Amino acid sequence: MAKARVQFICQNCGAAHQRWAGKCDSCGEWNTLVEEGTSGGIGSGPGSLKSARKGRAVTLTSLDGDIEDAPRIVSGIGELDRATGGGFVRGSALLIGGDPGIGKSTLLTQAAAALAARGHRVVYVSGEEAVAQIRLRAQRLGVASTPVELAAETNVEDILATIADGKRPDLVIIDSIQTLWTDLADSAPGTVTQVRAASQAMIRYAKSTGAAVVLVGHVTKEGQIAGPRVVEHMVDGVLYFEGEGGHHFRILRTVKNRFGPTDEIGVFEMSDKGLREVANPSELFLGERHSKAPGAAVFAAIEGTRPVLVEIQALVAASSLGTPRRAVVGWDSSRLSMILAVLEAHCGVRFGQHDVYLNVAGGYRISEPAADLAVASALVSSLTGIALPADCVYFGEISLSGAVRPVAHAQQRLKEAEKLGFGRAVLPSGSGELAGGIGAGSFQPTALADLVARIAGSRRSRAEETD
Ligand code: TYD
Ligand code: MG
Repeated sequence: MAKARVQFICQNCGAAHQRWAGKCDSCGEWNTLVEEGTSGGIGSGPGSLKSARKGRAVTLTSLDGDIEDAPRIVSGIGELDRATGGGFVRGSALLIGGDPGIGKSTLLTQAAAALAARGHRVVYVSGEEAVAQIRLRAQRLGVASTPVELAAETNVEDILATIADGKRPDLVIIDSIQTLWTDLADSAPGTVTQVRAASQAMIRYAKSTGAAVVLVGHVTKEGQIAGPRVVEHMVDGVLYFEGEGGHHFRILRTVKNRFGPTDEIGVFEMSDKGLREVANPSELFLGERHSKAPGAAVFAAIEGTRPVLVEIQALVAASSLGTPRRAVVGWDSSRLSMILAVLEAHCGVRFGQHDVYLNVAGGYRISEPAADLAVASALVSSLTGIALPADCVYFGEISLSGAVRPVAHAQQRLKEAEKLGFGRAVLPSGSGELAGGIGAGSFQPTALADLVARIAGSRRSRAEETD
């Protein structure tokens, strides 16, 4: 008889190991290996099956054919629909990940209520909170009277039996996958094997019935609870709900989407009555600006199809340390090192004796290389103590040779800036024809050194004016 095999599964990436080790070879995380039995679980090889089953022929079909119903369910919450690419897709599974307490349950309660109010059948299954707690939240959100069907349950088989009753639901929300467990796997709830097997069952349900399924997943740093990382490959879409501690707004970011664009964001603000949509994020991110202070530059970013203006703040201060500090919030720290190196090598600006701090205002995160020019301007401005013009926006990529390279959507970025009252722009040359008043007031350096010279020169011209 074959011995029941024991495996050690990494709770971070799901890799299986024969032996316990302190560090996972696949993802490099420490203390994430947990012993799990493999009998009957997902990932058990064919050897564990009692007898090989003879395959059953499935009907092959053509690409062209009728599709029942509208393929998408629109919630009417604009920012959510934008992030999902136009609404929840029927027959698909969507994962919404995020830190505990960020507002996932709040968002989904609001979405469930909005859909139920539009006549869809919505089932909300919570494994984390009791029915009374969810009711309390619904009252707070002012949606308690909407016909959302609610259950507090964690067993997948029971959940599936419950929702098979009556009309097929349009949307099923599972909050959260970490609490789900199935009879088919014998590991503890929350382990990778259980999370994977339970998610698989819910995804299979979505595909076979055409209901849209939303899975909620917590991301924890400890790796004790299986992160939703292992589920990311299995679902059709992954959204991350992010927010910086202490700030009220939240960003719903599309990471994977089989049915739409992946670079969209939805912006919300957490209030005492739930999440409010923020239709114009630029106004929010630029809200508390001190435009006269040196070290601040406004970057015209593009998020998906939408331009967003954010303020980049730099502080360059004399350092007493042997190795000066470099600290970044909201941007890539290796990208900052690169910009500092380019400024030193090609523009003669020295940061060797200075601590450098960089912050993207409002807790926003930037991933675009187009922010280079704004970062460089903020750094030079802080180092020299010369404030940048308050009505100017910056965008452009900087290459290692010190050249300023064009970026996409220049026209859109300028239009947004003009709409918000900016009159000037610094952008790469070769950005196409520039329309409008802001085009006339623009400066288009080909090299970063030109921009540094211009910023330094602005003090001289200002000094001459006052003479
Ligand atoms: P929640 O949706 O429970 O987070 P998650 O499901 O991601 O763990 O939201 C938790 C936080 O949101 C909590 O700290 C309270 C806050 N909150 C508000 O500020 N206003 C509200 O109307 C609601 C419902 C929650
Ligand atoms: Mg929750």
